[in-house]
Amino acid sequence: MISKTMEDAINKQINRELYSAYLYLGMSAYCESANLKGFAKWLRIQAKEEQDHALKFYDFIIARGGKISLGAIEATKTKWASTGKIFEEVYAHEQKVTGMINALVEMAAKEKDHASFEMLQWFVKEQVEEEENASAILAQINIVGDVPGHLFCLDHELGKRE
Ligand SMILES: [Fe+2]
Ligand SMILES: [Fe+2]
Repeated sequence: MISKTMEDAINKQINRELYSAYLYLGMSAYCESANLKGFAKWLRIQAKEEQDHALKFYDFIIARGGKISLGAIEATKTKWASTGKIFEEVYAHEQKVTGMINALVEMAAKEKDHASFEMLQWFVKEQVEEEENASAILAQINIVGDVPGHLFCLDHELGKRE
């Protein structure tokens, strides 16, 4: 059985993962409107991954005999200054999420909740990948130049994501 403290914290993380999905879907919609179909596709797949993260936490609470509580999801912006700005925000957001995951790991250790601690190790590894992907795309945008006319090759590359 999961403790109330851990249950509350993981329920909060479900909300944050769904907010991440919402944020990336908003960014994807913006890229659609800017005719950057590859960026839009990459971000849409990223949004789906965040939903999967939320469900991973959701399933864990249920498996541990806890109670799911789903709060309101914050609205996101609808406009960004450029594609570079989007990926600056993705990178910063993923670093913030890494901090949240680390805080959960520390809570699990403090609570001597080994099951939560073990489950969270997947997210620790996942965040290394998430930060690496975001910073790599940001670096590529900065190499070619953060203007729509220069982004077509990169847009094509990102559109290959399955
Ligand atoms: Fe996530
Ligand atoms: Fe993420």
